[in-house]
Amino acid sequence: MTGRNFVSDNVAPVHPAVMAAIAAANSGPAASYGEDAISARLDEAFGGLFDAEVRVLPIATGTAANALSIAAMAGPGARFYCHEQAHIAVAEEGAPGFYVAGGECVGVAGELARIDPAALGASLAGAKGGILSLTQATERGTVYSPAQVAALAAIARAAGLRVQLDGARFANAVARLGCHPADIAGRAGVDALVFGTSKNGTLNAEAMVFFDPAFADELFPARKRSGHAYSKMRYLSAQLEAYLADGLWLDLAAHANAMARRLADGLAGHPEISLLAPVEANLVFLDMPGWVLEGLRAEGFEIHAARGGASVRLVTSYATTPDDVDRLVEAALPGRSVERRASR
Ligand SMILES: Cc1ncc(COP(=O)(O)O)c(C=O)c1O
Repeated sequence: MTGRNFVSDNVAPVHPAVMAAIAAANSGPAASYGEDAISARLDEAFGGLFDAEVRVLPIATGTAANALSIAAMAGPGARFYCHEQAHIAVAEEGAPGFYVAGGECVGVAGELARIDPAALGASLAGAKGGILSLTQATERGTVYSPAQVAALAAIARAAGLRVQLDGARFANAVARLGCHPADIAGRAGVDALVFGTSKNGTLNAEAMVFFDPAFADELFPARKRSGHAYSKMRYLSAQLEAYLADGLWLDLAAHANAMARRLADGLAGHPEISLLAPVEANLVFLDMPGWVLEGLRAEGFEIHAARGGASVRLVTSYATTPDDVDRLVEAALPGRSVERRASR
């Protein structure tokens, strides 16, 4: 359970199956820097998932995964086209530009954090190469359908761009769409995917999945130079292996999504709370009066909010229980809130 903490899916503990896999890997010597037996199995495991030949490089943070997967495909001075609210544009301190000399992010508009195809086309007028970076699920908790990913990728490819996908919540998107994972990745024209896992049960392992192995080879010096070649790689690889085993990744994401749905449904009847975006993954965006928010906080709920409650983000995770959700819904009920307002 995550109790009263709805700040982020990052607050959840590590899933026991992942912890067990780390413990199981913790026996005797193993070759370092990804030369171990567990790491050697990853290409095949992810290849099976994506029904393609892929190269997989484990990495410890989503930010490094985004920046390095972009750097693998971008030349000096490249532009990275992404949604104007994209994590790489607003929350990674310019990390892709740190790895690509002279590189810069170009924000593209679109409703609900999904890039608008016409806006992308306009931004790309005259462009020669670069990177299109999509986020799935988006920063607003919406998802791109397979057709939407394919359409945006086609526009980008026609202008000579490569396509990278920030899948910090890729599992939540697949769970929502009910599609084959490849339908929003390799088959839709994505060249490099950041298959995020640490928001959904692992400790510190994201997978950079390259649908063209040559890009992974490109990355070996940059990984070393940037301090992301891990001597103890077996422990990251063990997390990824356990995460994929028996569809754990998808079950966990489906649960997180269901908890977000339950939360949104529970709050739907509240006269003073309104949804700011459709709930398609595990993020719930609300407009909530400041005094309701303060009342919830006074009861120990931890909530991320901006503008005094005008934009509240509640995040569920694999570890959120129905009871966790129901307690928050109950505490926000109009009767309870009115009591609080009266006692102010
Ligand atoms: C959409 C998205 N991409 C990337 C990241 C970066 O992950 P990390 O904090 O592991 O660098 C986050 C983290 O919040 C995210 O929400």
